[in-house]
Order: sequence, then structure tokens, then C-alpha cells
Amino acid sequence: MEKLKIAIQKSGRLNEDSLRILKDCGISIDNGRDQLKAAARDFPLEVLYLRNGDIPQYLRDGVVDVAIIGENVLFEKGEDITVCERLGFSKCRVSLAMPKAQSYTNIKDLEGKRIATSYPNTVAHFLKKNGVNADLHIINGSVEIAPNIGLSDAICDIVSSGSTLFKNNLKEVEILLKSEAVLAVSPKITASLTAILEQLRFRVQSVLKARQ
Ligand code: PRP
Ligand code: MG
Repeated sequence: MEKLKIAIQKSGRLNEDSLRILKDCGISIDNGRDQLKAAARDFPLEVLYLRNGDIPQYLRDGVVDVAIIGENVLFEKGEDITVCERLGFSKCRVSLAMPKAQSYTNIKDLEGKRIATSYPNTVAHFLKKNGVNADLHIINGSVEIAPNIGLSDAICDIVSSGSTLFKNNLKEVEILLKSEAVLAVSPKITASLTAILEQLRFRVQSVLKARQ
């Protein structure tokens, strides 16, 4: 039987809650943590564990049919990808932050400054909207350390509890977007797989309702 291919985050903050929502939908996955691919036992679903940042392209190419992914990633790399369900977990914001000691009144204060981020498109979009020019430095992780080592004047990254900002003596100065986990769909999904997706969505909606 044909199976719906779903991408979920391989490791990181979405992984556990993504598996939990599938489980709550009555779908158990044969794990295999080290396996990058696993089959569901009681639903026509195949799970692919992928790197967050790769998922928008896999959706675009139709390599996977659906994905559980953060809106922050879609905003950065997949604005063309359709969202079919908001999942209510992994809530966070993408924010600009700078050293606590630095004065900040408004976005114009970032003019000509160096900003370290893993979200260059999101930042560029925000700066452009506000008519500010800044110098973007792309780093893939541990972004919050950048100001402390003299690499940048400000950073833009995900803020969830705020503890990483706090530990690095940074203050949140602008919220660029608010994000949560969503179910995103490939533009190349076939009609027969869409029928399976509808069954999955029905279960997801029931689970979300029960969680309220
Ligand atoms: C993420 C993100 C922030 C932090 C936010 O980093 O990049 O640094 O979590 O969460 P908080 O507000 O609850 O502290 P992660 O720990 O996943 O590591 P990485 O940046 O190296 O990918
Ligand atoms: Mg981090």
C-alpha cells in the first residue's frame, strides 16, 4: 500500500513533541533512533528524520509529502510552502537581541551594525521593511556568543524560555516573528496521498481539540 512520507526533525526541540503528536494520533513508529527512516505500524506512514533546514527543499521537491516543522524555518526558507495545520507546540519567537549594557531605542540603532544570525533572510526582510542597513554574519549555532567574542554588535535567533539570552547578557530588542510547529505540505503531493493526509489531519485535529 502507498505510504505518506512525513519529515520530522532528526534531533532538536521539535523531535520529541513531533513523535508525541503522532503517538497521540494512534500512530506508533518503529524506532530506530539511529535510523533515518522508519515505518508506522498501524497507519500508511513513513517517517524520515531530517535536518530542520533541509526540510523546505525536500517538500518543494516532493521527496517528502508532509513535514512537522517550525514556522520560523518556513519563514526563512520556505515561504512558498503551504501550511495545513498549526500544531500548538514548540512555540518560540525569532528576535533581535543585543548586549544588555548597550542602549537601544529603536530599529534605527542597528544601522551599520554587525548582526550574527542563522536566519539571514528573516533578518534581511525585517531590516529592509524598516529601511535599515546592517552587516549580516551567518552562523549556524551558538549565535548568542557572537557579541561576547566581538564578532557582532547584535544577534538574531530563536528565543523560547529566554535563558540563552540571559546567560549571555543579552536583551531582546525586537520580535521579528512568532512561531509554532505546523504541518506543512509538499506542492507535489498526489491525490491518493492527499487522501491519506486528510485522515492524518482528522486525527491531528481530534488530538489538538482534546489537548485544549
Ligand atoms: C536554540 C536557539 C537559541 C535557544 C533559545 O539553540 O538557537 O539559542 O535555543 O532557547 P531559550 O530561549 O529557551 O534559551 P539550541 O540550544 O537549540 O542550540 P544551537 O543554537 O547550537 O542550535
Ligand atoms: Mg542556540
